Amino acid sequence: MPGPETSQRGLARVLVVGAGAMGSQIAMVFALAGHDVILQDITESGLATARNQLEERMDATVAKGRMTAGTARQALNRLTCTTDLGEAASSADFVIEAATEKLAIKQHIFAELDRLAPPHAILATNSSTLGSSKVAKVTRRPGQVCNVHFFNPALVMKCVEVVRHPETTQATVDTVMELVRTIGKQPVLLSREIPGFVANRLMGVLRDEALSLLDAGIASTEDIDTAAKTALGHPMGPFELMDLVGIDVNCMIAEATYAETGNPTDLPHPMIREMYEAGRLGRKSGKGWYDYETPQDDRIHKTGTTL
Ligand code: 3HC
Repeated sequence: MPGPETSQRGLARVLVVGAGAMGSQIAMVFALAGHDVILQDITESGLATARNQLEERMDATVAKGRMTAGTARQALNRLTCTTDLGEAASSADFVIEAATEKLAIKQHIFAELDRLAPPHAILATNSSTLGSSKVAKVTRRPGQVCNVHFFNPALVMKCVEVVRHPETTQATVDTVMELVRTIGKQPVLLSREIPGFVANRLMGVLRDEALSLLDAGIASTEDIDTAAKTALGHPMGPFELMDLVGIDVNCMIAEATYAETGNPTDLPHPMIREMYEAGRLGRKSGKGWYDYETPQDDRIHKTGTTL
């Protein structure tokens, strides 16, 4: 884990907009790397939940002997939470937006950030489906806008996709690639925008095949997941991964991708839509493809045919 001295000169102050699962862990990644971080969200309750979860996560890391209590405390002290976007943006060198995957919301945030952040600040979006050209166009600094896409759980996953749009300057790309390296992540550069970027496109192929195998009654969710893990060496099977990412997030990503491509095969799979409408959102709601509410030993239920 990089120490405070490694925080990239010139990009010391980081603002993360959106305190959900992604935004909160992205903020912690930067704080652990020595940056002063402000985590902004529209609700105090969202910020309090994020702070509690990060504190619990850091306590667990310390308890496992992976980090000293002092390092964890210093990093948490570098992380400030606020609902005030104006105050948060006024001193930011680098902003990463991790709000809801809705274009209108993101464009509103970027117009505000452009107005509120210093002229030198780079504005990035964590979106995996909306190319940054769509938010860059509401700013007066399109050359300083790009996608910087982290993976869930952001504290653990090494990869960060950096995606330029036609107007992103080379200086912005170089600065962001270096920034990603200094926070201990592995950047992957995409030379142009494409919905889903690289990793989600790969994941989508596996997910769609898993859903069609289940739909056709070929194998259960557990057996498909077991095959992915024990035959292919994946850390999680496709159904477990959908539950981790969130059925709602899967649904929103599919809808945003369809809005971009107009290709009906990009729409959410009917089983995903049905689960979303039934509130079976995965780990976050206690039930998804698997049941997380019942004791560990008998928590696994096949749900694909009994929705
Ligand atoms: N948040 C933070 N840290 C977590 C975590 C979480 N939700 N879940 C697990 N961890 C940490 C643990 O604390 C542990 O840390 P340690 O090494 O310091 O002890 C480490 O991860 C390993 O955890 P476990 O031993 O409990 O369990 P696993 O070995 O099974 O690892 C996993 C859990 C890291 C989640 C692993 O299963 C994995 O890599 N799964 C695949 C995740 C993946 O594919 N993510 C990408 C999703 S797609 C995406 O995000 C894109 C977006 O646009 C949708």
